[in-house]
Amino acid sequence: MESRLKFIEVKGDHPKTTFCQAVDEGLSAAPKSLPTLYLYDHRGSELFEEITCLPEYYPTRTEQSILERVSSEIVEAVGGDLMIVEFGSGSSTKTRLLLSAALDRQRSLPYVPIDISTEFLKQTSLTLLRDFDRLTIQAMSAEYFDAIAAMPEHSGPRLMLFLGSNIGNLTHEEATSFLAQVRSQMKPKDRILIGIDLVKERTILEDAYNDRRGVTAEFNLNLLRRINRELDGNFDLSGFYHSAPYDEREQRIEMRLFSLSRQIVDIDGTGGVYSFTPGEFIHTEWSHKYTLDSFRRLCRPAGLELDATWRDERDWFAMILLRPDAP
Ligand code: TRP
Repeated sequence: MESRLKFIEVKGDHPKTTFCQAVDEGLSAAPKSLPTLYLYDHRGSELFEEITCLPEYYPTRTEQSILERVSSEIVEAVGGDLMIVEFGSGSSTKTRLLLSAALDRQRSLPYVPIDISTEFLKQTSLTLLRDFDRLTIQAMSAEYFDAIAAMPEHSGPRLMLFLGSNIGNLTHEEATSFLAQVRSQMKPKDRILIGIDLVKERTILEDAYNDRRGVTAEFNLNLLRRINRELDGNFDLSGFYHSAPYDEREQRIEMRLFSLSRQIVDIDGTGGVYSFTPGEFIHTEWSHKYTLDSFRRLCRPAGLELDATWRDERDWFAMILLRPDAP
């Protein structure tokens, strides 16, 4: 099995702000914020898997149901001897549908899962190889942007996946720049498949990100726990609570951690002291919602055109297949 697995750790070519710098900068700014990417340590990735099973969290289930219906159609639409590349692969659960559909048409399939949670990526890869004997895996431990230039070449078309409305966690500028960078590596036959969460009624959206069991709260607060552990911080987790309101104008959920009281937090690792007023919040993540039009507006400047779209019967979620525009 090991012979079908290659594991690559991709480092960016530019110096990165470290966790320590990012935390110090974010907590010194007004309003305070912390970079989204740090939500996904091993525990964060586990908690996220739990979120995807919550009754209120419809995106995963809805995307899964679309893929159950149209996976073979998607694979057919791309055609040829595929390679599948996935940005932010996580547990690759939904991807299995596409892997199966591709393996129905071709003898073997190279799959390139990309994720920043290295241990998670290794576990997932081994499980997939056990379940699919005609699969080969080149796993890349990397951040989205660093992975683009490191994508392996392939003789046939490459289908690049960006599922789970993960693109919604980027700002519109970041999303277009990400798509443009992927576009710059694309051959004419390559395609991108993106799952996007669609604009809908506020209560449905807010319930999805403020679940009753508090798993999303736990996921969000885990970031403070990570700061305590890795940077020697003294966040009192009971002094903060999670809330994720929907901003209708910006069409996005805003994940926040609110301070319950006036308090001071020391972080030895950064050497900083950060004070909070009651009700002050730390922004941790956006989750943008789209209409087909608003999404098209992100793609066009990146040089990408809508090739096909699939939706569920309630119009809650869409899968968009993108092709490079004619040069
Ligand atoms: N990208 C998905 C979304 O925005 C998954 C996700 C990322 C998420 N961070 C999250 C879901 C935090 C719940 C809470 O929906």
